[in-house]
Amino acid sequence: MPMQIIRGDITKRSVDAIVNAANRSLLGGGGVDGCIHRAAGPALLAECRTLGGCDTGSAKLTGAGELPCQYVIHAVGPVWHGGRHGERELLSSCYRTALGLALEKQCTSIAFPLISAGVYGYPKEQALEVAVETIRDFLRTHEMLVELVLFDQDAYQTGQALYPDLIAQT
Ligand code: AR6
Repeated sequence: MPMQIIRGDITKRSVDAIVNAANRSLLGGGGVDGCIHRAAGPALLAECRTLGGCDTGSAKLTGAGELPCQYVIHAVGPVWHGGRHGERELLSSCYRTALGLALEKQCTSIAFPLISAGVYGYPKEQALEVAVETIRDFLRTHEMLVELVLFDQDAYQTGQALYPDLIAQT
């Protein structure tokens, strides 16, 4: 199956690339960003310091330090301001940009967290819809194994309710 919803911690995924839900500084933070930096070790922050930040809706790629993947793609999702400030397009653009960077590096597998659905306040159901639609669109014309890794129970239950066919069978 080219797209799967998985419950777990993205730092444990042995895929070619994992995606980070970063902020524009790319210098670390809380949530999944904090987990990824802790698990990767200081080499990741050192590389991030050389990148000069990143625009909202875009993404940049680094090595992965001590993580079990090859690359980390740092995507900057939009902060939720009610949904009428281009949030959907910016969020979709994060997924598209990250997938494009993974393709450039010949990645065959990638794992995403639910970008913007934590500290940035994007409603989980809508964040999931944007993720699934954008990834589906990409997979119409490209080959890649794409995992959507949902960490909290709320997000995972939303995934089970909306996309039962995408839930990974373990
Ligand atoms: N694996 C997978 N998903 C996770 C993990 C994990 N280890 N930890 C948390 N999540 P958030 P955002 C989920 O807040 O909303 C940071 O401070 C979490 O449950 O990490 O894009 C950055 O530096 C939620 O569903 O990212 C930025 O400042 C999802 O990941 C800001 O937060 C995203 O939550 C970005 O906010």
